[in-house]
Amino acid sequence: MRLLSALSSLALLAPAMAAPASDATKTPSLWERALSWRAPRENLCHLPSPPQLCVPDASITVEETARRAYEFYRAFVVDGDPRAMFALIDDVYIQHNPFYQDGPQAIWRLFCAGRSIGSEQNTRWCFDASTNMSYADYGNVDRWKWVDGCVHEHWDQGERLPSPDKCFKLPTN
Ligand SMILES: *[C@@H]1O[C@H](CO)[C@@H](O)[C@H](O)[C@H]1NC(C)=O
Repeated sequence: MRLLSALSSLALLAPAMAAPASDATKTPSLWERALSWRAPRENLCHLPSPPQLCVPDASITVEETARRAYEFYRAFVVDGDPRAMFALIDDVYIQHNPFYQDGPQAIWRLFCAGRSIGSEQNTRWCFDASTNMSYADYGNVDRWKWVDGCVHEHWDQGERLPSPDKCFKLPTN
């Protein structure tokens, strides 16, 4: 969460610092590329609350939970997609962070603008089916507990990704 606030401040400064419109044939600078992957996808900050939350469903399988955990990582880290992200969080969402209250509402303003914080290349994720925990490493490591197909609990202090052999392998096709 600390990284996220740093990024949000950076994003506020960005328009002033961005280079003037450049020749389209020129290779984008590192800074321009960094700005483009942080560009808002869908800004939902006009909404006071997440448009949709996850409804717990005890029939959701471990395989489906793993797939959702990957979707959640994509929405939270890579895509910056607040709609998809909150659709996977239940209405309890225990934070385990002294700076934020429990519940999805408490973090809505942090994520409503829809900003990517990394790419698949420079971040990692994992779902450990033996604990129903998923992880995202984007410089900071967050851990989430999945219950009945929804993100239910969160930790972000001193977390570490499990070893790769513990991480669920999603079917690829
Ligand atoms: C993980 O979730 C599944 C349902 O998706 C449940 O059957 C299983 O008991 C859970 N395992 C743990 C360790 O909580």
